[in-house]
Amino acid sequence: MSEPTPPAPRRRAPFDPVAEPAGPSTTLVHGAERPERNAGSVVPPIYQSSTFHFPGEFSESARDGAVPLYSRLENPTQEVPAELVRRLEGGAAARVFGSGMGAITTTLLALLAPGDEVVAPEELYGGTLDLLRGLLSRFGVRVRWVPAASPEMVAEAAGPSTRVFFVESPTNPTLRVHDLSRWARAARSAGASLVVDNTFATPINQTPLALGADVVVHSGTKYLGGHSDLLAGVVVGPEALIARIDAVHAVVGSVLDPHAAFLLARGLRTLALRVERHNANAVRVVAALADHPKVVRLDYPGRASAAEEAIAARQMRGRAGMVSVVVRGGLPAARRLLHGLRWFHVASSLGGVESLASLPAETSHRSLSPEERAARGIDDGLVRLSLGIEDPDDLVRDLVRALDAV
Ligand SMILES: Cc1ncc(COP(=O)(O)O)c(C=O)c1O
Repeated sequence: MSEPTPPAPRRRAPFDPVAEPAGPSTTLVHGAERPERNAGSVVPPIYQSSTFHFPGEFSESARDGAVPLYSRLENPTQEVPAELVRRLEGGAAARVFGSGMGAITTTLLALLAPGDEVVAPEELYGGTLDLLRGLLSRFGVRVRWVPAASPEMVAEAAGPSTRVFFVESPTNPTLRVHDLSRWARAARSAGASLVVDNTFATPINQTPLALGADVVVHSGTKYLGGHSDLLAGVVVGPEALIARIDAVHAVVGSVLDPHAAFLLARGLRTLALRVERHNANAVRVVAALADHPKVVRLDYPGRASAAEEAIAARQMRGRAGMVSVVVRGGLPAARRLLHGLRWFHVASSLGGVESLASLPAETSHRSLSPEERAARGIDDGLVRLSLGIEDPDDLVRDLVRALDAV
């Protein structure tokens, strides 16, 4: 009897979310596979090379985009995390950067020129505030601030020179929620672009492009990487805007190293699972601390008012893993709380698997004056908690024990 014919080698079908709709976890696991290009490897390799062999004649036309040129401009390893975030955010194109600030600075430099204006809320990450108030103002860019107490004023904030609306939601560190659809309408009627920093929410919990934003920026250092072992930034948006950003990126050079790009892609594969746990841990901590006698105020997306709760319910699928508490007794009491914690590292940053606790007045927002911090609700005794993926009972027990002892 003749041997049965072995099955013909089967090529793995490329990921096609249109023909075969897939949820976020499936997208994150399979959404950037290129086995045909990568010697069949299941995990895309690290192209740890600053430059690439040039086939044929050394000219741009001969190259025709077929092979990378030089890693400040492009590197195949960077495409993997960019593609995963692009798919989740639902944008046309995406790029990765050496840090979140690299992504934000490059994006704003690409969209603005001297004499242009930006509309932005008063509550923003300290580094973004420094960029808007410091560096960009030196190049003739003015900011029209939307007061923290009157977020609805975004509707009439623009002037004839406004080119960009920039907002972050939930905000760092008071976790206020901005109505992103309202910001998108205001930007559109001013003929400006809306840029949303989606770092705190992640695309698992919130997708700003679907709410009308033009560009989404991320500190990939936080939840996207998820393990506190890299710095990265991501930008997602339409092809034409990303091409403008590419041109500035090529000279600014905030490049994500191939090894960090590999780690970012590795972290991203578990983003949906991790965020589910971060979300759940925050819900547990809010329930346990809301009525604690040592807690003067607890910040969590949607808690500031009924209006913000309605906005959060409309635009967020989950509320992420951040909780801030203002401790009775101000800064000395807040310091005692930090020192009493067992499972929380006292460290700035957020979004990693391990829980972190920090004092924004002394870290992320230290460049603001005490008056500026007070106007934004950043009390000296405000402790920002980034809840990791540890067991919720352990985190709650740790926080309650440390608060009791404050
Ligand atoms: C909301 C937000 N945006 C941007 C950044 C800047 O990101 P990176 O530290 O990766 O430059 C941070 C950092 O804490 C942040 O919290």
